[in-house]
Amino acid sequence: MAVLSLAERLSAIAGQAFQAEGLDVAFGRVQASDRPDLAQFQCNGALAAARQAKMNPRAIGEAVAARLREENIFADVSLAGPGFINLTLTDEYLADFAALVAGDARSGAWAKDTPETVVIDYGGPNVAKPLHVGHLRAAIIGEALKRLMRLAGDDVTGDIHLGDWGKQMGQLLMAVRDEMPDLPYFDKDFTGPYPEESPVSLDDLARLYPQASAACKADPAKNEEARRITAELQAGRPGYIALWRHFVTVSHVGLRREYDDLGVTFDLWKGESDAQPFIEPLVGLLESKDLLEESEGARIIRVAREDDSKKIPPLIMISQDGSVLYGSTDLGTIWDRKQSINPDRIIYVVDARQSQHFEQVFRASDLMGLFPEDRLEHQGFGTINGPDDKPYKTREGDALPLRVLLDQMKTGAVDRVNASLSERGYSKEELADIAAKVGMAALKFADLSNPRTTNYIFDIDKFLSFEGKTGPYLLYAAVRIKSVLERAGMAEQGSAIMITQDAERDLVLSLAAFPDAMRQAYEKRMPHILCDHAWRLAQSFSKFYTNCRIADEPDAGIKASRQVLARTTGEQLELILGTLGIEVPDRM
Ligand code: ARG
Repeated sequence: MAVLSLAERLSAIAGQAFQAEGLDVAFGRVQASDRPDLAQFQCNGALAAARQAKMNPRAIGEAVAARLREENIFADVSLAGPGFINLTLTDEYLADFAALVAGDARSGAWAKDTPETVVIDYGGPNVAKPLHVGHLRAAIIGEALKRLMRLAGDDVTGDIHLGDWGKQMGQLLMAVRDEMPDLPYFDKDFTGPYPEESPVSLDDLARLYPQASAACKADPAKNEEARRITAELQAGRPGYIALWRHFVTVSHVGLRREYDDLGVTFDLWKGESDAQPFIEPLVGLLESKDLLEESEGARIIRVAREDDSKKIPPLIMISQDGSVLYGSTDLGTIWDRKQSINPDRIIYVVDARQSQHFEQVFRASDLMGLFPEDRLEHQGFGTINGPDDKPYKTREGDALPLRVLLDQMKTGAVDRVNASLSERGYSKEELADIAAKVGMAALKFADLSNPRTTNYIFDIDKFLSFEGKTGPYLLYAAVRIKSVLERAGMAEQGSAIMITQDAERDLVLSLAAFPDAMRQAYEKRMPHILCDHAWRLAQSFSKFYTNCRIADEPDAGIKASRQVLARTTGEQLELILGTLGIEVPDRM
């Protein structure tokens, strides 16, 4: 059983007070105060209740407050403004709650009442193309959401959804043919078997793809040919399929390495191509519901609505040349997931600029009764920008390869770590390990602490700072707690918590805020709320550590309480960092 959060407990108590006044329990909702200098919690329900009951809000507030004062858990219950109820708990109540969190194997993590089966579609790299900055956010945010949802109790499958079936595949086949025309894959009359060994390496792909794509841009005839080849590939031409398989296998190796470096793992390595077997049944279903229309040789689904301010264009199911496009493969993938996983919900962590695409797919899916629109979520994200606050690009105008950015971060982290830890006498290997973790923490925390939907500027120096709201600061806090505990030792299991100073109360309140923060982060799909909590917790700890003696505290009870608080803080902080995909070194 998960620990019930303070806000949940107080909501239940305030709800009863409203009910006793003949009002709806729901008005009793309590939340953390937005004026922590005045109160710890607040309840704004009297205002809404007054509107509904056509009564004076202050009168309701007074009546509810009077009932709450009778509970012996509040140090203060007061009314503010038109009828806000401000609540401050007694230190005894807070201390007892902190003891619950301390005794909880999940450090107070929130758990969902009715967990769901969820597919998260994130990653979305394209075969034959190296990862670029745009893929970084999908990977980092998707991984964090996956871990957060699992922590809440959901059964989550993460799927990389490789881009392995689009026009770039035709372009690449064409490029290989032009360079090595004698390979058997291009001979229509050859019936196999095809060579087991790939004729192309990862480097070949990295070289050939940009070439092919540039050639198609420059020459409409080439472009047309690439489209035709793509259509033939999708139709299953054996030579093309055999060579395409090599592209995919070779790409997998490179992509796995890149995602491993990021600490990002997928349960499924499926791709757009896996949707192909579902295209025919999809078309059948669409036809039976009369949802397919011919338009300039293509077959489309109209998804616009009567009152459509967004003017969503139709989704192209089958293009003129018979090939499937991005929308059709996404629909086929929903079919596949429904059949193989039967999820309650599918979440797409993809660049916010693809919102129209997802709107088309979700509407089409709903129209044909494939999967309900309200259980398909596009959780978009903003761009990573360069110093000019425009999406990061290479000088040639392409999206910046992820490698470039990771290398910058790595170099920066090594310099930073060497500068601050060189005198500790750590081995070279350990310093390298610390630098790798510091670099990753800087990168991930910077990304995740920025609200998912907004853009941010990539600024290595800021991200790598050991001060302020950064990944390295939080690592440092987590490591310091470990070393504090090493020196001070652990208290006996079940030692009582005592609040003897402001800094202890502050730390207890921060620890206690975790379940609510986690719930909000979960419900909004916003990891930055967890980052904010981690930062608050680390700051509270720092204040606590400055003001409260631990190892040399003479009072045994107070000492034990502080040991418990330190241990609980360390555990909660590491749990959160782990959920964000951030690894903590043993020392630094
Ligand atoms: N491959 C796509 C891209 O690079 C992203 C795929 C996102 N997922 C999806 N189901 N459409 O833009």
